[in-house]
Amino acid sequence: MDTFTSLSYLVSAVCFIMALRGLSSPETARQGVVFGMAGMALAIVTTLMSDTVEGIMLPLFGIAIGGVIGATIAKKIDMRDLPQLMAGFHSLVGLAAVFVAMAAFFNPEAYGIGTVGNIKVGSLIEMGLGAAIGAITFTGSIIAFGKLQGMISGKPVVFNGQHKLNAALGAAMLLLIFIFCGTQSTFVLLLLIAVALALGILLIIPIGGADMPVIVSMLNSYSGWAAAGIGFTLENTLLIITGALVGASGAILSYIMCKGMNRSFMNVILGGFGSDEAGANPADAAGDRPVKIGSADDAGFIMKNASSVIIIPGYGMAVAQAQHAVREMADILKAEGITVRYAIHPVAGRMPGHMNVLLAEANVPYDEVLELEDINRDFSQTDVAFVIGANDITNPAAKTDPQSPIFGMPVLDVEKAKTVLFVKRSLGTGYAGVDNPLFFNENTMMLLGDAKQMAENIIKAME
Ligand code: TAP
Repeated sequence: MDTFTSLSYLVSAVCFIMALRGLSSPETARQGVVFGMAGMALAIVTTLMSDTVEGIMLPLFGIAIGGVIGATIAKKIDMRDLPQLMAGFHSLVGLAAVFVAMAAFFNPEAYGIGTVGNIKVGSLIEMGLGAAIGAITFTGSIIAFGKLQGMISGKPVVFNGQHKLNAALGAAMLLLIFIFCGTQSTFVLLLLIAVALALGILLIIPIGGADMPVIVSMLNSYSGWAAAGIGFTLENTLLIITGALVGASGAILSYIMCKGMNRSFMNVILGGFGSDEAGANPADAAGDRPVKIGSADDAGFIMKNASSVIIIPGYGMAVAQAQHAVREMADILKAEGITVRYAIHPVAGRMPGHMNVLLAEANVPYDEVLELEDINRDFSQTDVAFVIGANDITNPAAKTDPQSPIFGMPVLDVEKAKTVLFVKRSLGTGYAGVDNPLFFNENTMMLLGDAKQMAENIIKAME
């Protein structure tokens, strides 16, 4: 690699690191995206200019087709469909890894890794690993896409001996890579890819639709490692760095999500947690416990007479697309001199940063949006906690009931506010399928209805 290429790649790698840094906060996210785009543009131009690329028309043609398709999808995509978009894109990264491994195997001279039947062992290991991880990523991401898009059932598919079968396929993959290095056989490489494709499907089918965000993040990590593997085969330092950045950040994100839910990664992988369908029968959920049910007028009156309100958004706000109405409601309160802030739980909604994205879309000022650890102490000095479409993230069972599946998950201490208003359609459970005792508290008022409709009605009542 000549000095110019090395320097350009170094600048691109720094841009990617700056992009990740920028994306860590909503205020700097746009800047982060610009860094990422600049780094990628520089990387593409440098690669096309390098003497290892023969003829730039074909790659330019590919970039044009892919670019147009990618830009069109990105422009049209609904915010709620982002997880499946990610899954769809990851499947392509996995497929690319398989194709590059096969291209290097059938034409090793072009990659400077030996001749047909006489490829360096190190390159064969990279090829085998890259193809296997790529194939798992490909089929795994397609299943994740299908479940998230509702094209296949989101219910976990489990059968006897499933984990043993997966372990056996994993061991078979390692054995095949070993045999491939010894024989350089086309049949063994194809068999390895076939086993990995099957493993990708089997790994993802037992996982419920609602756990998919963690899985998408895990597949993101796999696609990064597959890209890093290709980087070694192609002897391309930038691809190795970029792949490692994606691989490591995806793994860290999966870890953060699991920690936010207080679940181990294995617990997610083995499936069977939570439910896609919330909404138990309200009457059943209440039993003979008294519940205070209020109206939009009651809520408007209580909030207008408060001096501080904390809004707690959750998955239901995303479903109802109530964020604009919520901001409008907050604007009216602020105009009355009432302090309004938003409390964001790390796993509110169904994907990392879900609530932050929705609130940013509704132009909620960033300084009003606070993370759990920065606002949790303030509930005891707050007049109203306005919980909209959230459930598990407020459930005190996580603090008090060691038998609860969410025990140990950090939760927002909304019950410490003078009044807690809960906007949801029923007294049913949320994602974890756990009853929330707060609905029956003395200082709680339930506002039953669709989140957007209720927020709009409250606005009308306050006006
Ligand atoms: P949930 O606990 O799932 O509660 C959401 C509530 O919204 C439901 O109880 C539902 O009650 C209500 N709802 C649904 N549609 C509504 C609508 N149109 N209008 C009004 N309310 C509506 O959500 P949460 O509090 O945000 O907690 C997130 C959960 O997801 C946690 O358990 C977390 O572990 C899990 N999870 C999160 C992630 C990430 S990364 N965020 C990933 C995987 C899993 P009704 O049916 O009564 O309306």
